[in-house]
Amino acid sequence: MTEQGLKLLRGRLLTFTSEPQHEADTNAYSYIEDGALLIDDGRIIASGDHSQIAPQAGDAQVIDHRPNLLMAGFIDTHLHFPQVQVVASWGDQLLDWLNNYTFPEETRFVDADHSAQMATRFYDLITGHGTTTAVAFCSVHDTSANAYFAEAARRDMRMIGGKVMMDRNAPDGLRDTAQSGYDQTKALIDRWHGQGRALYAVSPRFAITSSPAQLEAAGALMGEHPECYMQTHLSENRDEIAFTKDLYPDAPDYLGVYENYGLLGPRALLGHAIHLEPREIEVLADTGSHPVFCPTSNLFLGSGLFDDAGLRGRGIVNGIATDIGAGTSYSMLQTLNEGYKVLQLQGQKLHPLRAFHWITRGNAVTLGLQDQIGTLAAGSEADIVVLDARATDAMRLRMDRAESLSEELFILQMLGDDRAIVQTYVAGTPQKVAAPVAA
Ligand code: GUN
Ligand code: ZN
Repeated sequence: MTEQGLKLLRGRLLTFTSEPQHEADTNAYSYIEDGALLIDDGRIIASGDHSQIAPQAGDAQVIDHRPNLLMAGFIDTHLHFPQVQVVASWGDQLLDWLNNYTFPEETRFVDADHSAQMATRFYDLITGHGTTTAVAFCSVHDTSANAYFAEAARRDMRMIGGKVMMDRNAPDGLRDTAQSGYDQTKALIDRWHGQGRALYAVSPRFAITSSPAQLEAAGALMGEHPECYMQTHLSENRDEIAFTKDLYPDAPDYLGVYENYGLLGPRALLGHAIHLEPREIEVLADTGSHPVFCPTSNLFLGSGLFDDAGLRGRGIVNGIATDIGAGTSYSMLQTLNEGYKVLQLQGQKLHPLRAFHWITRGNAVTLGLQDQIGTLAAGSEADIVVLDARATDAMRLRMDRAESLSEELFILQMLGDDRAIVQTYVAGTPQKVAAPVAA
């Protein structure tokens, strides 16, 4: 799937070196009106003004994306691969939604053919929405994780994920055991972690579906493979928190369960993290763990409002993500749209420059991958999205009155979706194929 050969992409370039708070924060970002990226062998080898890059391009294939905007591909730090056919399931909050819709659907991923078919659709969808890296929970079956990583390898994508470990409070066909969850995870790490661009995340689903023995096994896996990520869910819903307290009465609080099994640290990703106690916030900060904000999901399931400013104020680095299939859009632009509104409800602000930093370099920082992905710097992997802020009638009409880069970005943030994605490059290879011209 990977195309070889030198390529020059021309267009407007926006990339970040740190987190901007507003447009005047020009040390944090670089915006070039007539820019170019030179790409070779899956990497950006030069990035800057077209007039400076073009003389180095030799016989490169030139792709002129003017007047569109080139940015690093979007990064989605929390979603569920086996939930592509769960999105938009009506009526329930978290625990009922899991039992009524999600668990039955995930049982289907025991089948390798189903998993492979869904993997193709999943990757077409995320790249169609401009996402080039994602961190996914697969189902409990190793077949689903194998399908997830095999399709990522075919597309040369930098993908992170793991089979969920879950050994209780789930239906037949959707439970492993502490031992089999450990063994299968170990085998998957050996097979996939560091293969090409793949990285593994040890994935105990959440405290409710893992026995103490299983969380101990997950902690052992992290001790044996500190290079891997750890992903789980935390304090998303009040009933979930109460059930967790019943199951782990000796833990100081929900986060204390994971803390007791050695699961926290800079490689830990904790989905939702909405209803937190002061002690939990201290522990998140002290361990360098990362809460992940999932706005479309939190609104859809009625879970609550993520306190981004409160956590950031304690020096915590938050990710942002779709959480498909409780999330309602594959688009990181729509995720920013809903995220903006969740923060508005709390009197917090999300400036568009900070928003676009978040879904590119910010999420890369959350993953410790900012030297590989999330920017257009020379040396980075060539995962790039091409954006058109005039993609729909409504966007065009609004853009006619836009006077600044920030306004353009905010229009993309509030009105954009897959229609605004002109092209997505993964390791330098375009993922959208032009429709054949009729003869
Ligand atoms: N908590 C445990 N599993 C899940 C899941 O699949 N989705 C969400 N939103 N929360 C969870
Ligand atoms: Zn989730």
